[in-house]
Amino acid sequence: TPPELLRNFCIIAHIDHGKSTLADRMLQITGAVQPRNMRAQYLDRMDIERERGITIKSQAVRMPWEVDGTPYALNMIDTPGHVDFTYEVSRSLAACEGALLLVDAAQGIEAQTLANLYLAMENDLTIIPILNKIDLPSAQPEKYALEIANLIGVDPDDVLRVSGKTGDGVEDVLDRIVEQIAAPVGDADAPSRAMIFDSVYDTYRGVVTYVRVVDGQFSPREKVEMMSTGTAYELQEIGVSSPEPVPSKGLGVGEVGYLITGVKDVRQSKVGDTVTNSRRPAEQSVPGYADPMPMVFSGLFPIDGSDYPVLRDALDKLKLNDASLAYEPETSTALGFGFRCGFLGLLHLEIIRERLEREFDLSLISTAPSVVYRVVMEDGAEHTVTNPSEYPEGKIKEVHEPMVRGTILTPSDYVGAVMELCQGKRGQMLGMDYLSEDRVELRYRLPLAEIVFDFFDALKSRTKGYASLDYQDDGEASSDLVKVDILLHGDHVDAFSAIVHKDKAYSYGVSMAGKLRGLIPRQQFEVPIQAAIGSRIIARETIRAIRKDVLSKCYGGDISRKRKLLEKQKEGKKRMKMVGSVEVPQEAFIAALSSD
Ligand code: GTP
Repeated sequence: TPPELLRNFCIIAHIDHGKSTLADRMLQITGAVQPRNMRAQYLDRMDIERERGITIKSQAVRMPWEVDGTPYALNMIDTPGHVDFTYEVSRSLAACEGALLLVDAAQGIEAQTLANLYLAMENDLTIIPILNKIDLPSAQPEKYALEIANLIGVDPDDVLRVSGKTGDGVEDVLDRIVEQIAAPVGDADAPSRAMIFDSVYDTYRGVVTYVRVVDGQFSPREKVEMMSTGTAYELQEIGVSSPEPVPSKGLGVGEVGYLITGVKDVRQSKVGDTVTNSRRPAEQSVPGYADPMPMVFSGLFPIDGSDYPVLRDALDKLKLNDASLAYEPETSTALGFGFRCGFLGLLHLEIIRERLEREFDLSLISTAPSVVYRVVMEDGAEHTVTNPSEYPEGKIKEVHEPMVRGTILTPSDYVGAVMELCQGKRGQMLGMDYLSEDRVELRYRLPLAEIVFDFFDALKSRTKGYASLDYQDDGEASSDLVKVDILLHGDHVDAFSAIVHKDKAYSYGVSMAGKLRGLIPRQQFEVPIQAAIGSRIIARETIRAIRKDVLSKCYGGDISRKRKLLEKQKEGKKRMKMVGSVEVPQEAFIAALSSD
C-alpha cells in the first residue's frame, strides 16, 4: 500500500473506558473480521490464546476503510495502558501519526489517560477526542466535552460522541481518522529502517516482532540486523495482522506489520530498537531507543523451600516474553533461597508475582519493594544499592534516591486531603490546575520510594477512590536517608532491613519491632527485638521467656491472604527458621512482611 493511503493510529484510554469494545466495532464495521467469525473482545481473546501459545497476539491490526471511493488501510496499534510501561507506550506512539483519545462519557478523563495524552502531544500526534458510552443514562457528554476541549484546545463540538456498544458514531470515527491523521512519510529508496514497537514470545513461532517501517522496504528471506547489537537474522516470515496474521511479500514505507526470525528470546528483539538490511544497513537508527531500566526491586522467595527450582524455571520462562524483568539469586537468613527481582514499577511486580502464583502454582513471599539508591562514600567510592542488606558500611557522604513527577487528578473536594498526603510523603508541589469546576490536577515531585510503598492505597482511601495518579521518572535527589536494621536477640534479620528517611526511621523501627513481638512465640529465654541505625538502638521490644504454667500463645496479628496460602501448604507441619539462637516460625516473617 502506498504511504498516502495509510493511516497509523493508537487508542489512548483508561481501563474500562471501552477500548476493546470500540476496537471490536471497528473490526466489524470495516469488515476486517467476517460477521460469522466475530466474537466479543476479539483482540483480547487472542491475547489469552497467546498465553496458551496458540496464536499470535495482535499488537497492530489492519482494517480497510473507504472514503469517497478511495480505499485506505488503517493500522490500529495497541498501547500498554499503565504508567510502568511509559517507555513502551512512547515507542508505540512513535509508530503512529495520530491517537484517538477515548474517554468514558460518564467518568471523564483519568490521570493515566492524561499522562499518555501528554506523551502523544509531545510526539506531535494528531489527537481525535472521543466521548464513549453516550448510550449510558449517566453520561454527561456536555460536561466532559468541555473538559477535554480545554485540555487539548479544541472546540467542544469537535469532540466526537460514540457508543462502542451500539455502534453509534463509529463510522464517523473511521472517517475522521482518514481525514485528520497525516499519512506516514519516509524515503522509499533509502536503506531500510523499521522501529520495533513490541515483541512477543510465541511457543511455536518464537519471537514475533512488531515493526513500523520508516524508510525503504523489507521482504521475506532478506537478511536483517538489529542496530543496537548488530546481530543478524534471516526474515523467515513477514506480514500484517488483519487481525489474523497474513504473510505478505513485503512491507514498505509507513507500513505496520510483524517479522519472524526464529529468535527465541525477546531480549534479542528489543522494543525501540531499529531493524535494517544487513547488506545495505542504514546509517542511523530510529531515535529514542533505551534499555528498559528496572526501577523497583523486591526479593521473591518460595514459601516452600523445595519450590526453588520451580521458581527459577518459571522466571526463565517469563523472561522469554518480558525483556524488562531482571533477577538474580538471593539468599536470606530469614527466608532462605530466592531471587532478587527488578521491575519497571509496582504494577509490573504485581503482574509477575500473580503470574508466578497462578501459572506456575507457586506460593511466594515478597520482601518490601525497594528502589535504586546511589550511595556516595566520603572517599569518593560509589555504590548502587537495590537491596537494603547490601547497604555499604563506613562513612557515607551522600545518598541519592530516584524521584518522580506525579500527576494526580482529584475531585476538588479532596484537594486538601491529597495535599496533606503528598506532603507527608515528602512531596514538593509543582503546580495545580482546575480542569473544570470540580476537578483538579495536582503536580508533585515525590521520591519514588514513597510511592512504591502504600501511596496508591492511601490516595484511594482519602478520596473515596476518586483520585487517580500517574508518575514519570524525574531524575534523582540527595536525601537524608538511613538504613534501619532489625535485630533479634542481637542477630540481624536481613529481610527486615530498610532504607528510610531519617524522620521516619524511628516510626519504622517501632512498628517493625512491635509487629515482630506479636508474631514470634516465646522461647526458653528472653528475646530482645531491636531496631538500630548502625550501632545506635532506636527502638526495643522484649519477648518474655516461657513460664511453665503458661501455654505459649499463638502468634496473633492478621495474616489474612498469606495465611490462606499457608493453609494450602502442608498443614500441621510448622516450618521453623533459626535466627541466631531464636526459633522463628516462617509465617511470622511472612506476616511481618505483608503490608496489610
Ligand atoms: P480493558 O480491556 O480492561 O482495558 O477495558 P477496555 O477499556 O478495553 O474496556 P471494555 O471495552 O472491556 O469495556 C469496559 C466495560 O464497558 C464493559 O463492561 C463494556 O461492556 C462496557 N462498555 C464499553 N463500551 C460501552 C458503550 O459504548 N456503552 C456502554 N453502555 N457500555 C460500554
